Amino acid sequence: MSKSNRSIVQLRDVFKSFKTGDVVTEVLKGVDMDLVESEFAVIFGPSGCGKTTLLNLIGALDTPTSGSVMVDGQELSQMGRTQLTAFRRDKIGFIFQAYNLLPTLTALENVEAALELLPFPSQKALHQRAIEYLDRVELKDKADKFPAQLSGGEQQRVAVARALAKQPLLVLADEPTGNLDGAMGERIIGLMRKLNAETGTTFAIVSHNAGLADTADRTIRLHYGEIMK
Ligand SMILES: Nc1ncnc2c1ncn2[C@@H]1O[C@H](COP(=O)(O)OP(=O)(O)OP(=O)(O)O)[C@@H](O)[C@H]1O
Ligand SMILES: [Mg+2]
Repeated sequence: MSKSNRSIVQLRDVFKSFKTGDVVTEVLKGVDMDLVESEFAVIFGPSGCGKTTLLNLIGALDTPTSGSVMVDGQELSQMGRTQLTAFRRDKIGFIFQAYNLLPTLTALENVEAALELLPFPSQKALHQRAIEYLDRVELKDKADKFPAQLSGGEQQRVAVARALAKQPLLVLADEPTGNLDGAMGERIIGLMRKLNAETGTTFAIVSHNAGLADTADRTIRLHYGEIMK
């Protein structure tokens, strides 16, 4: 798919600090960042530099201390709670660093749950989509297992399937291959690349995997709250 210039993510002068008691930690210090439609970007940076914080702001899971976060042309701070819930549900596929699978649901049900509020012609179509994506992460045979019955890497792949099955506008992936061996990690990144080419989904992937830099359209380096030019 050819790249359009449609802006999907636009951050301007974004600051984020956390206050714990009297201690203020400044995490992001004036971040500017742009992603256009169907861009495949990888964000690198040392542990603790603010990568997860950055994804949380883009995915409307947290709010900046100051600055502007626009996603798909909408300023997130101008949106109300209901609108933000719909925004996350309809536009964002989030792959969490700690997976965040629901423990009482099977692998298949975890993927289905993410699709339930999206428009599908039938429950059967929804079910088929969930199965298709479990298959794409090579876990169809474990569809009926609960998270506690899966290895860390398998849980991570369920989390990947859950985010990608939505075929969202934007995938925010926090270390999506952190618990996978090299070969499996490459296949999962290959799957993301394929979906990116097929559907035009924009990807922002946090990683420590330097090999990913070669396949990315763009690498963004975050160094203690600032983007390295
Ligand atoms: N809710 C919070 N309250 C206080 N401090 C926080 C909070 N969330 C993050 N921080 C601090 O902000 C800094 C950046 O955290 P963040 O999780 O964004 O780092 P990261 O780049 O994702 O690191 P890693 O690669 O280890 O996942 C850390 O110093 C962390 O302690
Ligand atoms: Mg992190």
